[in-house]
Amino acid sequence: MRERRLCFHLEPPDGWLNDPNGLCYFAGRYHVFFQYSPKSPEGETPRCWGHYSSEDMINWRYDGIAVRPACRYDRDGAYSGSAIEKDGEMYLYYTGNVMHKGDYDYITRGREQNVLCVHSADGQVFEGKRLLMTNADFPEGMTCHVRDPKVWRQGGVYKMILGGRTAEDTGCALIYESDDGVKWRYSSRIETQEYFGYMWECPDLFELGGKEVLSVCPQGLIHCDSRFCNMYQSGYFFTDDITPFGFTEWDTGFDFYAPQTFLSPDGRRIMIGWLGMTDCGYTSYAEGFERQHCLSVPCELVVKNGKICRIPIKELEKLRKECYHINSTGVYNVRLPFEISAYTQEKFCITLGNALRLSFDGGVFLLEHFDVRASGGRTSRKTLLENCRSIRALFDTTAVEIYLNGGEAVVSTRFFPEEEEFSLAVTGVNGKLFSLQDTMNASSFHSTQNF
Ligand code: FRU
Repeated sequence: MRERRLCFHLEPPDGWLNDPNGLCYFAGRYHVFFQYSPKSPEGETPRCWGHYSSEDMINWRYDGIAVRPACRYDRDGAYSGSAIEKDGEMYLYYTGNVMHKGDYDYITRGREQNVLCVHSADGQVFEGKRLLMTNADFPEGMTCHVRDPKVWRQGGVYKMILGGRTAEDTGCALIYESDDGVKWRYSSRIETQEYFGYMWECPDLFELGGKEVLSVCPQGLIHCDSRFCNMYQSGYFFTDDITPFGFTEWDTGFDFYAPQTFLSPDGRRIMIGWLGMTDCGYTSYAEGFERQHCLSVPCELVVKNGKICRIPIKELEKLRKECYHINSTGVYNVRLPFEISAYTQEKFCITLGNALRLSFDGGVFLLEHFDVRASGGRTSRKTLLENCRSIRALFDTTAVEIYLNGGEAVVSTRFFPEEEEFSLAVTGVNGKLFSLQDTMNASSFHSTQNF
């Protein structure tokens, strides 16, 4: 199959992409780094940090590789982490992954997960790689799996949250504090009262609408009918001091993991996730493709009725070109990429050619893949909702993000259809259909940097 580039989702210039890293606004630009295995769509080369930047979060420029795994403390991968601005410079904190050769389980022995940082005066060239912590700095009772530092400044100190796996095989998060962002002291451990997975990856802790929110990616939850259907989960707790309660998945589709948030200069809490999943039995890559995976669109987080809604940032409305009206029932010819933004009736159904169906009936929103080849092995996902009043669905060439009730529930999936034009059949939907602009054209990849 001919590889089709995405039109408004960030994907790697080549090779493999996973988690978004180091999200920040620095020196007049938004920065999005990502876990990147150059040249290897299967993700076999050690992870680097790829780098995109933008003035408006719409038009992105690929800025090359920012962090390479090149020293004794990160030689098997510059794993996930975050960014802050300190003393007028950008600091990136990340996990240096090291795997020793030998007969190890790589859980309790044989693996190092170090905390390192680099800094940059211009947000382009990163230098001064420095080792900040090793496994010996993590509290007793942890396995070797402690990673993904998210750093922020609060009340005059720097804080860091790391995800981890205890020796009892339970997931938790560790909090560290620092006066200078360099020397860190252990502060506390966040965990649930009941077992909630054996490992927590990519934690993030932030305030939203007067509540403290802990976003984590637990591994090892039991799959239920409509909850925890993916291989690994990604969602949030509210926290009461250090005890997290409730857990809501960020996305109930097939492809969403390892999200991270940052504050935009105008005070919005913006989240970007990885539209992908590992060890999951479905693929995000067809024969002939030179790259695998992409990031979600940036979303603003807002608390409404005690729930966090994920709303695509308002900037994305600038992608809209022609507008057509949809009135309840009809068939339309559409070409990817496009968007549906509509109010929905008690029951509705949206069918995209022979590939996908999105429907709501009796409290269940259903996403179904019909084209076995295009689905890459994905089947269907259920989302339970008391009612569904609106839908906003962003259809890119190979990625779909569906926002229900203003982002109260989000359902994301990849699909790899042969065709770009479809007939779209709708019932119970009143609103607008927009064709969308392609902003990820080849000019985004002007960088001359090579791996
Ligand atoms: C999550 C994750 C992180 C790790 C990174 C490595 O997808 O496993 O915990 O830092 O990916 O690429």
